[in-house]
Amino acid sequence: MSIGVCYFPEHWPRERWKTDIRQMADAGIEYVRLAEFSWRVLEPERGEFDFEWLDEIVDLIGEYGMQAVLCTPTASPPRWLVAAHPEILQTDRDGTVRSVGSRRHYCFNSTAYREETERVVGAMAERYADEPTVIGWQTDNEYGCHGTTRCYCDDCTTAFRDWARERYGTVDALNDAWGTTFWSQQYDDFEQLDVPRPTPAQDHPSLVLDFARFSSDSVVEYNRLQADLLREANDEWFVTHNFMNLFESLDAYDFGDDLDLISWDSYPTGHAQQAAGETTRDELRAGNPDLLAFNHDLYRSVLDRPFWVMEQQPGDVNWPPHSAQPAAGAMRLWAHHATAHGADAVVYFRWRRCLEGQEQYHAGLRKQDGTPDRGYHDATQAAGELFDVDDVDAPVAVVHDYENAWALGEQSHAPDFDYWQLLQSFYAALRAHGVQVDVVPPERDLEPYDAVVAPALHLLTESVADRLTEYVESGGELLLGPRTGVKDESNKLRSDPQPGPLSALVGATVDQHETLPAQFERAVVRTDDAHTDYAFRTWAEWLIADAAESLLEYAGDDIEAGRTAAVRNAAGEGCVVYCGVWPETDLANDLVRSLLDRAGVRRADPLPEGVRVAQRGGYTWVMNFRSDPIAVTVESDASWRLGGSTVDPFDLAIADADVVDGLAARVLE
Ligand code: GAL
Ligand code: ZN
Repeated sequence: MSIGVCYFPEHWPRERWKTDIRQMADAGIEYVRLAEFSWRVLEPERGEFDFEWLDEIVDLIGEYGMQAVLCTPTASPPRWLVAAHPEILQTDRDGTVRSVGSRRHYCFNSTAYREETERVVGAMAERYADEPTVIGWQTDNEYGCHGTTRCYCDDCTTAFRDWARERYGTVDALNDAWGTTFWSQQYDDFEQLDVPRPTPAQDHPSLVLDFARFSSDSVVEYNRLQADLLREANDEWFVTHNFMNLFESLDAYDFGDDLDLISWDSYPTGHAQQAAGETTRDELRAGNPDLLAFNHDLYRSVLDRPFWVMEQQPGDVNWPPHSAQPAAGAMRLWAHHATAHGADAVVYFRWRRCLEGQEQYHAGLRKQDGTPDRGYHDATQAAGELFDVDDVDAPVAVVHDYENAWALGEQSHAPDFDYWQLLQSFYAALRAHGVQVDVVPPERDLEPYDAVVAPALHLLTESVADRLTEYVESGGELLLGPRTGVKDESNKLRSDPQPGPLSALVGATVDQHETLPAQFERAVVRTDDAHTDYAFRTWAEWLIADAAESLLEYAGDDIEAGRTAAVRNAAGEGCVVYCGVWPETDLANDLVRSLLDRAGVRRADPLPEGVRVAQRGGYTWVMNFRSDPIAVTVESDASWRLGGSTVDPFDLAIADADVVDGLAARVLE
């Protein structure tokens, strides 16, 4: 476990390079990531490569005992390439061409761009194939960033038609699958199929879903082109790509076959500001631990092995609405937090604040004059503290599916219905109980998990339903959330009542659903003796219990009062709970607590907000994302490897045992 840094030698005079590299080594840095936007310096004119500067830097990195991760430079094609092939540029949905002048202006389906990609990646791969300092590659940089996954150009239109021909065979099969009789939308020929264009009313939901699938597939295919070339040159290299925070338009799981390592770019104070709702003061200083952890767990789960944070926020950043200064210690806390969730390396972005271009208002580990900045001290401290540890072993899985995000995004049915947020309501409850979680696609084998949480499997195939049924019948504990089993895989309403192929397992069906604006405060109440009330939000389903037992019913005196809101059903050796509302924190915590207890998963009592624990390889990290100190007690046979039983604001402690049960934390006044 160690730290790295992103470095852009091409922004600095050559005389400075040695000093920079020496200072990196002194700081305890082990990895240097390079070259992701350097196409124009690597190839000043078409076919005239200049590798000499990169050779020199790679040599220096090796000399100082560090290792290099090179990036292919395809995220920023140079002007000479655009001038020769203007057709590589992306087109917006309204027909506007996205010009050169920033980055990511190329189309993934452009034949010309794929050829140019092969040329530059092939040349770089060949140049460094025998260079021991280079241990791996990042393909491109943040595919899809700045809204560039989906392109509406002529090449994409042609490629989309081919994709649809391949998927459906005949145009009648497409018409059937989508249901195009509605509003006379039948296609007579694949040549009439178009990428979504501005039209007077809503788009056809099946077109939207398939265009989202096609667009993600196009990037997977483009990435494969790069990964294959790199692997051919040297199959010992790892090939990775740096994904992003809750990034919806790419199905990260589909990249698994072509990558050896998954990485993502973590900017906690920026992501917290992007999230819905108000950003708290503590989140402005250190981010939201559950949001970060969800990303860590998702990207770890793609390959079910340690991941990297390929870009870690180093201080204030330029792109969120506000560029808050992170709390003292936050940059160190993030490195430990990532490690606790399975990171093998945390690479800070960037070495030094840049004097030119779009990111001058973005901190580095060093200031613009080259002296250490706030992040530098945190990063060096983390470098001295991180240690090698086994992989995360999670007892619980949250089922996550990009196709559902795409379908629900188009028919959210309420302004505040967001698939990722719904997942996180359940996920946060698991984190509050200190349980490690894998975030897996519906096709993943669920047998290894003691409990599974699957909110909003809105598009549900028979095969996924069968697998969930088998999971429960053979002893699994399953918690399903609202909007499950509504549609088929083409995004067409199923004719059987919701939850469709899961109705028998759940022992209940959905009679009605509704959404209401947030000012209507509503509650559900437990049907057992406890009579506890719980708040919920955004989505309400009225259930009809058949074999199942009612757990919750609607409170109040409005039309839903007394209707069933959640049920539990035993099936085979296991049990399933279906919750028809979007739970607020108390309800999510109670549903999750009883799930964990039924499944026999060890857990903490709900931890205070902003205080989180995670276990990895026999150690427990206790992390304080709050501006007040906390007191922690752990089982008596554990001792502290780092820190102690009082954890300062934005600080952490590490116990040398797996101590989730018997762990208690309270906030000190
Ligand atoms: C990332 C990107 C970097 C840099 C950084 C700034 O999204 O990969 O190149 O722009 O943001 O925070
Ligand atoms: Zn295109």
